[in-house]
Amino acid sequence: MMRAAVLSGLGGWLPPRVVTNDDLPAELDTSDHWIRSRTGIACRHFAKPGSATSDLAVEAGARALASSGEPHADAVVVATTTPDRICPATAPEVATRLGLAGAAAFDLNAVCTGFMYGLACAAGMVATGVADRVLLIGAETYSSILDPLDRGTAPIFGDGAGAVVLRAGDPGEPGAIGHVDLGSDGSGAELIRADGGGSRQRLSEGPEREGEQYLRMDGREVFKHAVMRMTASGRTVLERAGRSAADVDRLVAHQANIRIVHQLADELRIGRDRVVTNIDRVGNTAAASIPLALLHGVADGAVRPGQQTLLTAFGAGLTWGSTLLTWPDLVLCD
Ligand code: COA
Repeated sequence: MMRAAVLSGLGGWLPPRVVTNDDLPAELDTSDHWIRSRTGIACRHFAKPGSATSDLAVEAGARALASSGEPHADAVVVATTTPDRICPATAPEVATRLGLAGAAAFDLNAVCTGFMYGLACAAGMVATGVADRVLLIGAETYSSILDPLDRGTAPIFGDGAGAVVLRAGDPGEPGAIGHVDLGSDGSGAELIRADGGGSRQRLSEGPEREGEQYLRMDGREVFKHAVMRMTASGRTVLERAGRSAADVDRLVAHQANIRIVHQLADELRIGRDRVVTNIDRVGNTAAASIPLALLHGVADGAVRPGQQTLLTAFGAGLTWGSTLLTWPDLVLCD
């Protein structure tokens, strides 16, 4: 029989510092009412200075391993836009700090779609026998690339990490990763970007280059693409799985903006009562968004074993990806 990757552990971690909308700098000229009504976000977590993405990733990874009941993995994938450094990758350090030295370890960057790309990679590694157990972590420290005075981004993003363990199993088991849809469109690369420090826009000192390290976003255009791309990708994966929107018990979409998630649900004809969301408490945590939404959904009882669960994400690149799975029975660990 063919091998499949089966979801067997879930964990996450948020840095303790909570920043409410009212805590944001007054210079942003925004308000709690505007942010809540336009995005659904009430607060986000920011890592303290000196704390890096690997620190969050280790906390989330340890909890996912504990949740899976076994402390080992033979591959560690860290999906992130905000690695500790440009070189080396963050994953080897994370693996070693988790007691997994010797495991294959690499980073993957598909921005807010990073977790979905990571899931496809991890599932492929398990299915082909490259690995028997993969720890996949989506971890971000967006506070390190946010311009605190840009009201188009500063209220939107937050820090956090979410992780899953995938083990070898059967395609028919709950939690088995089956059909996955992934896609990209580089013509939209300018819509969300952080230029500084790359090979094209080298970081240099001088006032004319000030701010080039920050994330910039055309929010209005991104909004339209997010709804369009996740709708198409969600439909594709349902079609490949021979399912319809009526079969979907839970929609767990990238937590970009509650209005995006609701419009997506409407387009897919999935009732808003089937939408799982935690954006009010975490904001947009990019590659950590889907595993954190799953974690909070399971903890709150919104995501339950046996439910047909549609995961879909969209991010800079542009990138997008979706999968459908039967939710497995998982034990969460603090
Ligand atoms: N507080 C108060 N007013 C704000 C504001 C803020 N934080 N941000 C923008 N505004 C103002 C604008 O200046 C504009 O004012 P004007 O009409 O006088 O010019 C007005 O609100 C509308 O601006 P717009 O950019 O069209 O707002 P929006 O409704 O599109 O909301 C975002 C802005 C960023 C919240 C929204 O576009 C969004 O969520 N986009 C997607 C972001 C995303 O998901 N990114 C990640 C994808 S992976």
